[in-house]
Amino acid sequence: MAREVWNNRVGFILAAIGSSVGLGNIWRFSYVAYENGGGAFLIPYFIALLTAGIPLMILEFGLGSKFLGSAPLSFKRAKKSFEWIGWWGVIASFIITTYYSVIVGWSLVYLLKAFTLGWGADTGAFFNNELLHVSDSPWNLGNFSYPVLIGLLATWLIIWVVEKKGVQAGIERSSKIFIPLLWVLLTVLVLRAITLEGSINGIEWYLKPDFSKLTDIKVWQAAYGQAFYSLSLGMAIMITYSSYLPKKSDIVNNAFIVSLADGAFSFTMGFAIFGTLGYMAYTKGVGIEEVVAQSIGLAFVVLPEALNMLPGLKALTAVAFFMCIVIAALSSLISLVEAFASSIMDKFEMKRGRAVDLTIGFGLFFSLIYATRAGIYWLDIIDHFINTYGLIIVGILETVAIGWIYGADKIREWINTYSDIMAGTWWNACIKVVIPIILLYIVYTDTLSNLA
Ligand code: PHE
Ligand code: NA
Repeated sequence: MAREVWNNRVGFILAAIGSSVGLGNIWRFSYVAYENGGGAFLIPYFIALLTAGIPLMILEFGLGSKFLGSAPLSFKRAKKSFEWIGWWGVIASFIITTYYSVIVGWSLVYLLKAFTLGWGADTGAFFNNELLHVSDSPWNLGNFSYPVLIGLLATWLIIWVVEKKGVQAGIERSSKIFIPLLWVLLTVLVLRAITLEGSINGIEWYLKPDFSKLTDIKVWQAAYGQAFYSLSLGMAIMITYSSYLPKKSDIVNNAFIVSLADGAFSFTMGFAIFGTLGYMAYTKGVGIEEVVAQSIGLAFVVLPEALNMLPGLKALTAVAFFMCIVIAALSSLISLVEAFASSIMDKFEMKRGRAVDLTIGFGLFFSLIYATRAGIYWLDIIDHFINTYGLIIVGILETVAIGWIYGADKIREWINTYSDIMAGTWWNACIKVVIPIILLYIVYTDTLSNLA
């Protein structure tokens, strides 16, 4: 059976951007930047992109396009004993799939509610009580929250339809609609935010540079961690997507385009988030630190409250906001599911249809845990755990296995074959030294703080 191939280069790039632009760009980046020096954070972030994010993306694109396999198969073709590294990434992405799908489910519920601002005045009570029915006990796994369950089933249904159609008709076609739409929504959200009174204060908070932070190692650690997460690296995904590339592909250029587009999306989204928070703080007559929140709390509690307070275009803005979240997260979820499905297709010589049914069957089954009343406890714990011991460890293994054992020069030669801009010896240094050292440091400090 011939391997599926992208219809064209743009399709591949859009699909890779679809994977990378996700919740990390919407609720993670702006908060991480705000916490770590505001405008000054852009410097470590850009350096992290250049010295780690882009080089590792080049490596993953190189692996997939050279060995033409899902992550386990590509690693195996590089060296037989490397196969397990691919599986580690695949299993980590499967675990992410199980809770990422639930967040998409919540977002679908919010998207429907957005038309009427149906979350009501007390957005915290809506999220915790009405929607999640959060239980006091983390062991309350018997009771489902029915709205979440319905959102979750709808999410899996959409993924099933896209994945069944395959690389060109499913992933590529949906990316060609999703990604342009995402940028339109982003533009709408930024324009709405910056025309609100007080928004400038929020943006100032977001960007006001605190250069003294640049000497703080934690800031650098945050920059590298954010870059890896945001670019969907170490998750078997970029290897899988690049394994569908036609033979003559410009690896280096593609990696730059995808990474810079992801960074640009995050940076721009910060204006929408902090502009809106600035308006909210101004209206309440408080400082931004009283309204700012991160991740789930930001998207499902604080922003709905801010949307309630808008002077006009409430429902329109709310719909744009949640549509943006739904689409960004859906296209990332598709890539996670594809990484798993493609691996079992390769391993067991299975047809796509069957592999997709199996992946979605298991994915749905495990995701049900997070649709229970205790789900949010587990989501928090697993998310933290997998971000360190999934992608970061795989990143280390990848750079050591390919950079040191397989040989950085050998894979670089392939990477440069059809690339306009070539990866020079600087790339070897990033792969062999910079990335493993920084990632090891992240795992080390994270483990220490987990033990504490
Ligand atoms: N890159 C995605 C984001 O920024 C997150 C993600 C990580 C998605 C790993 C898939 C796999 O939200
Ligand atoms: Na991202």
